[in-house]
Amino acid sequence: FALDVIHGYRTSFPVPLAEACAWDPVMAELSAEAAGREAYAAGLRWTFAPMVDIARDPRWGRIVEGAGEDPYLGAAYAAARVRGFQRAGIAACIKHYAGYGGAEAGREYNTADIPLRRMLEVYLPPFRAGVEAGAATLMSGFNSLNSVPVSGSRFLLTDVLRTWWGFKGMVVSDWGSIGELQAHGVAGDGVNAALQGIWAGVDMDMHAFVYRDHIKGLLDSGLLSTKQLDQAVRRVLSVKASLGLLDRPYADETLEIGAMLRPETIALAKRSALASAVLLKNDKVLPFSKEIAGLAVIGPLADSQVDPLGPWSAQGDKNEVVSVLQGLKAKLGAKSKVTFEKGCDLEGASTAGFSAALDIARRASAVVLVVGEGRDYSGEAHSRTDLDLPGVQRQLVEAVLKLGKPTVVVLMNGRPLALEWMDKKAPAILEAWYLGGRHGEAVADLLFGDAEPQGRLVTCFPRNVGQVPIYYAQQNTGRPATEQRYTSKYIDAPNTPLYPFGYGLSYTRFEYSGLKVPAHVQAGEKVRVQVTVKNVGARNGVETAQLYVGDPVASVSRPMRELKGFQKAELKPGESRELSFLLTPSELSFIGRDYRFGYEPGTFKVWVGSDSNATLEGAFSVEGEQDFYALDLAPKGDMEALPPRARSRAESPKKRKAIVVKDGATGPVSE
Ligand code: BGC
Repeated sequence: FALDVIHGYRTSFPVPLAEACAWDPVMAELSAEAAGREAYAAGLRWTFAPMVDIARDPRWGRIVEGAGEDPYLGAAYAAARVRGFQRAGIAACIKHYAGYGGAEAGREYNTADIPLRRMLEVYLPPFRAGVEAGAATLMSGFNSLNSVPVSGSRFLLTDVLRTWWGFKGMVVSDWGSIGELQAHGVAGDGVNAALQGIWAGVDMDMHAFVYRDHIKGLLDSGLLSTKQLDQAVRRVLSVKASLGLLDRPYADETLEIGAMLRPETIALAKRSALASAVLLKNDKVLPFSKEIAGLAVIGPLADSQVDPLGPWSAQGDKNEVVSVLQGLKAKLGAKSKVTFEKGCDLEGASTAGFSAALDIARRASAVVLVVGEGRDYSGEAHSRTDLDLPGVQRQLVEAVLKLGKPTVVVLMNGRPLALEWMDKKAPAILEAWYLGGRHGEAVADLLFGDAEPQGRLVTCFPRNVGQVPIYYAQQNTGRPATEQRYTSKYIDAPNTPLYPFGYGLSYTRFEYSGLKVPAHVQAGEKVRVQVTVKNVGARNGVETAQLYVGDPVASVSRPMRELKGFQKAELKPGESRELSFLLTPSELSFIGRDYRFGYEPGTFKVWVGSDSNATLEGAFSVEGEQDFYALDLAPKGDMEALPPRARSRAESPKKRKAIVVKDGATGPVSE
């Protein structure tokens, strides 16, 4: 029995995108394990998680399910979540292999065209990390990648996954995706779709029923060998055997007693919620004082108990969710007067509730505005073209902000939004995402300073939709943006995001100094980078020190900087700590012009700091002969060759003559 246990089973944890903002894979491992334990107790032995798709386009609704835009952080989270689920005794399933997050224009299920180099450097590393962490299963996606639907791609599912990475587990298709090979236009009927799926390396057909209906016929006609079928069956049974299902097929119902919502699981969900919210702006408004005379809580999401559950909430129950309003009331107790008005609905054009909301805001000494997207605005099949607040929420926020009260906007949403207008007007903004069951408690603790904000963004927040896809690891281009007209920029907006990757504020400040980097290393050596971080503010705080590396001259244009390390440090006021990072050769490596993976001697730059704009800079040089690793990635021949007879079946007899099956053609990779 399998289910999408994505961010908690009964105890609801922050959605994966939020959880990644904690930059704490160990915590994600624990939350996956806790969710896995509850799921196990309920009789589940398989979760369709983690989702490890890199996503750089916030229009795509499923950005909420992953760990953001960066392959290094994404790989750390993929491995952590796989380990966590599997430690609980349930099989993990890394999905959706591959390139699904690269859907053109952010439109769900759309085509992805991603060059091989970018696949290898950006989209595949989290999958590989999941495989190396021992994922028992993998899910092939819906999309077509470079014109080949991934659920029929032998290149991806066999050559890369099994031959190169050594994956021994089972591959399941996504819901109906083998059948959809027909709609993609690569299979003429269900028979052929089934043949292509199994031939590519999909062992189990989720819900298209083409294996069930056609495998017998394929065997009888000789298009499929029993050897091929046995191989798929063996992989399915091996997973079942490793889960103990062949010995104990039935769940022990008594396990469920007392297994759900245990105090330690709830405490972990609370810790995770506190670490996941990101303080985006604070003009000396926060933290609020608990002595506050009156607090107005306004907004369509302020008293919602269902939305903090986010998409894919498994058995999460809204009655166990603390809304923001409930959390604030509990925090302030009888001492303080908390008033509430919705102001408007999430959608629709009615402003009828504005005046009541403005009334309570006028009478209060501070205001909390809770706005954003309902939980069904993101997740599968929820792409948007607009990244602003839906309905009349923007007008509501603007009207309340005009009163000039100390106001914080608490955002609830499953994707980066484009809120430049809000950044200009609101004194404080807290990105709370969907924090799960403890949502309101965590928001109240953060707003009143009982906890220190520590979340850091894992995706850039654009200024407007026209900037997307937007991500920090940009290449320089031949004409980096300057005042000059003919440089790489827009004429109506800056290139920079509103909030960069890695960004997030604390109630204190941190300073970096004393960067130590060796001047030279020999090829093959590790590089130690040290830096001192100091809490120079007046409160405790948790900093996430981020290490970025750049390779300014190489055989191919490289991103100007890439994340290659991060560490969290909890520091008291005045306290400092020296942090040490160790860069390995593979962290300096990339796919060279000849498609080999390795790195090239020369100068590398490093930056350490609080976000992807870190300015403390150092450099080191790698000396030695050109030192590519032996790994040769050049795709040989026809990467996507179909079994010859499968291909001919897909075509009408008339067309069949024209088919040229490139069998074994080889050639160099063209640039
Ligand atoms: C989704 C998968 C999910 C599956 C089963 C599909 O529609 O794309 O992520 O695991 O349904 O629920």
